[in-house]
Amino acid sequence: MNPMILIIDDDVAVRASLSLLLKQAGYATAQAANPAEALQAAATLRPQLMLLDMNFSMETTGEDGLQLLGQLKQLYPQVPVILITGWGSITLAVEGIKGGAADFITKPWNNDHLLQSVKTALELAQPTTEVPAGKLTRKQLNDQYDFSMLVGEDPGLLQVLRNVGQISATDASVLIEGESGTGKELIAEAIHKNSHRRKAPFVKVNLGGISASLFESEMFGHRRGAFTDAKTDRAGRFEMANKGTIFLDEIGELDMASQVKLLRVLQDRTYEVLGDSRSRNLDIRVVCATNRNLQEMVAEGKFREDLYYRINLITVKLPALRERNQDIPLLVQHFVNNLKKTYHKQELQVSNKALKWLREQPLPGNIRELKNLVERTVLVSGKSLLEVEDFQNQLQGGLRKLEEKALPSVGAMTLEELEASMIKKSMAYYHNNVSKVAKALGVSRGALYRRLEKFNIPYDAQE
Ligand SMILES: Nc1ncnc2c1ncn2[C@@H]1O[C@H](COP(=O)(O)OP(=O)(O)OP(=O)(O)O)[C@@H](O)[C@H]1O
Ligand SMILES: [Mg+2]
Repeated sequence: MNPMILIIDDDVAVRASLSLLLKQAGYATAQAANPAEALQAAATLRPQLMLLDMNFSMETTGEDGLQLLGQLKQLYPQVPVILITGWGSITLAVEGIKGGAADFITKPWNNDHLLQSVKTALELAQPTTEVPAGKLTRKQLNDQYDFSMLVGEDPGLLQVLRNVGQISATDASVLIEGESGTGKELIAEAIHKNSHRRKAPFVKVNLGGISASLFESEMFGHRRGAFTDAKTDRAGRFEMANKGTIFLDEIGELDMASQVKLLRVLQDRTYEVLGDSRSRNLDIRVVCATNRNLQEMVAEGKFREDLYYRINLITVKLPALRERNQDIPLLVQHFVNNLKKTYHKQELQVSNKALKWLREQPLPGNIRELKNLVERTVLVSGKSLLEVEDFQNQLQGGLRKLEEKALPSVGAMTLEELEASMIKKSMAYYHNNVSKVAKALGVSRGALYRRLEKFNIPYDAQE
């Protein structure tokens, strides 16, 4: 049977057009014009989803909407409610999300986006039929999904994989949180690969590397002549990702002005190319990642709360490697196997003692640090059987080298001055190539841009 959707709105024209849209998409619909009708219809018809207009009272304070939402969620906690609000009342929508709404749509709505949101909410609300997802073993996960690139059997990771498997099929936006090097990008790719969009593009954008002034032209594209430097037409990242998945990495680095611009696209699923006023539709799945605490940033006023709720319909939190250290031997084995092929060195091996020792290392850089450590050790030691000392040398190598070289004497320089002068030196060495400098200094481009601005070091924004 087709899912039944209850439309709650005092405006008969809105109800009629929503009803027509939903019916054409194959849903059954019912309508309610006020809270009393809504409660009655919910009780008798048992809809699978409800669309609730937040401004449906005459006073349009939204209080009635929030109150009704509260009642509906209390009576039918399993039934998703999607809110419809005006652009001016996004704060209301945010309140609604906190009150249990599944999603919110702003008026005037984009039909495709609304249908996508309905479909996603229904899929997420549906209990999975096969093996209860909470119990899938690593082998069952492998049978059901493509997780070949993700090594690990730790219960914490398996829980993440079960979650990722379940949400991949939907179009829900996902926020991936985790420390640096925990595998956020790999998870984003896995979500795409296991979705119905797998044959369409996966476009990665490092928001930390895009300056505020270039945000629009980079993301939305520009027409030739739109501004002085626009010599040719250029496609934006959203256009490249159309029909596929866009991966917005380091979303916590986005400045406030760009946050509004991003919110608008995610909200309306339409955008305009610079220098061209025609508005274009977007059909994309949005996956974001950050190693910062966005909730804290929201509390501090550094990240828009409405954008936060827009991007994290679902949150996937990746465990730090130290929290799943039983996976360290598996990961080392995996990296060594890859190196065997790269270096044609079939005899490459790691001693059991070394595997045990590696498990106990703190590795704040997580999987990336472990991978680098294994690669460096294989290269530098040149041995076939790697022992504890071989890894030890590489782990401490970086520090030792630094101490040997002359650092300024204590008190001669503050840490900030030392940092600024190291950055200046690297910028000169790499002729202002920000990517190379970031790599050499071991920071992200976003982190480097922030420091360049902080220390007032000139750089070429075009890069
Ligand atoms: N489960 C895993 N199995 C095998 N390799 C992994 C796994 N997770 C991560 N890696 C590898 O570790 C490295 C870091 O992963 P990734 O780039 O996805 O991390 P990240 O969380 O995006 O890091 P950052 O915050 O620094 O951008 C990559 O080389 C990736 O291939
Ligand atoms: Mg990353």
